[in-house]
Amino acid sequence: MLFRCFSTARFIQFKTSSALSIFAISAGVALGTPYLLAEEAKVNYDAVRKDIAGILDQDDHDDGSLGPILVRLAWHTSGTYDKHDNTGGSNGATMRFEPECKWDANAGLSIARNSLEKIKAKHPGISYSDLWTLGGVVAIKEMGGPEIDWRPGREDELDGKNTVPDGRLPDGDKGSAHLRTIFYKMGFNDQEIVALTGAHALGRCHPGNSGWDGPWTRAPTTFSNELYRELLENTWHMKKWNGPPTFTDPTEEIIMLPADMALINDKDFRKWTEIYAKDEARFFKDFAAAFQKLEELGCNLDKDDSFTPFIALSALVGLALYKGA
Ligand code: HEM
Repeated sequence: MLFRCFSTARFIQFKTSSALSIFAISAGVALGTPYLLAEEAKVNYDAVRKDIAGILDQDDHDDGSLGPILVRLAWHTSGTYDKHDNTGGSNGATMRFEPECKWDANAGLSIARNSLEKIKAKHPGISYSDLWTLGGVVAIKEMGGPEIDWRPGREDELDGKNTVPDGRLPDGDKGSAHLRTIFYKMGFNDQEIVALTGAHALGRCHPGNSGWDGPWTRAPTTFSNELYRELLENTWHMKKWNGPPTFTDPTEEIIMLPADMALINDKDFRKWTEIYAKDEARFFKDFAAAFQKLEELGCNLDKDDSFTPFIALSALVGLALYKGA
């Protein structure tokens, strides 16, 4: 009799635990798996990467590549971040709308945004904010730069209502104090400021956009540590012209903005300029880390992974209940 009671209790306990464990595992799998599969099936990011790489060469654009302007788009969409109130950053892609597309700092970037429209049309599941940031990462790699870790999950705003105030991007005619104000508010330190500015190895200034005119290096479609080398190896003089204050080298083929000159005139910045001029591998590594950080400012990219621990937890609870039964 006693045995019967005991085994009935065990049986009930076993049944309850088993049911609970099966429920936990099933719930985890049922809720989590289709969600993860759907997320992954939605956009083929490798195909997007290939398509971006495929549009970079454009003989009729500047030095023959859209790469530099895609990097500038990725930087300007991200560099609006302010850590004090966690606003701005690449999430939202508010540069599609006024007022942001009309900011002086963003002059000329419609070329970059428009060039990505056909890729958005082909892969409609990708958000603009993911596409613009991925554009920068692909362009850097294609121009010989480092592989930069990139994660999807940014979401677009539907209009420009939540655009942050203008004035969060740096001015080219100012020095190190201004650079620190602008980049510290994003959460960067001196080393990261110098690393990120190394992107001026790429591309050029356009009188119609910023007023400045010319490239920083002699190979503006190759990602390299040339900016630091040019800065340190030249004697710079002020260019005589009617444009904004510009430093130029003895050949007058390349230029530096006053903001770039801060990289050699400020002693703490200069320390990193010297390190990166000597050690390109170190520059690539530090740039890749800082650029990923830049593109993820204000983005909550871990949220889509929340189902993975949920599945794992459900399975563990299920297993524990089953073992205890
Ligand atoms: C340090 C502060 C910075 C200042 C003051 C600054 C300023 C400028 C200016 C005035 C231009 C010329 C725009 C034009 O006339 O078309 C430019 C271009 C560019 N900037 Fe910066 N920038 C800064 C930092 C950065 C950073 C952090 C990146 C990327 C990580 C970046 C990437 C670029 C690129 C790739 C271009 C060339 C775009 C093209 O060729 O069309 N810049 N920047």
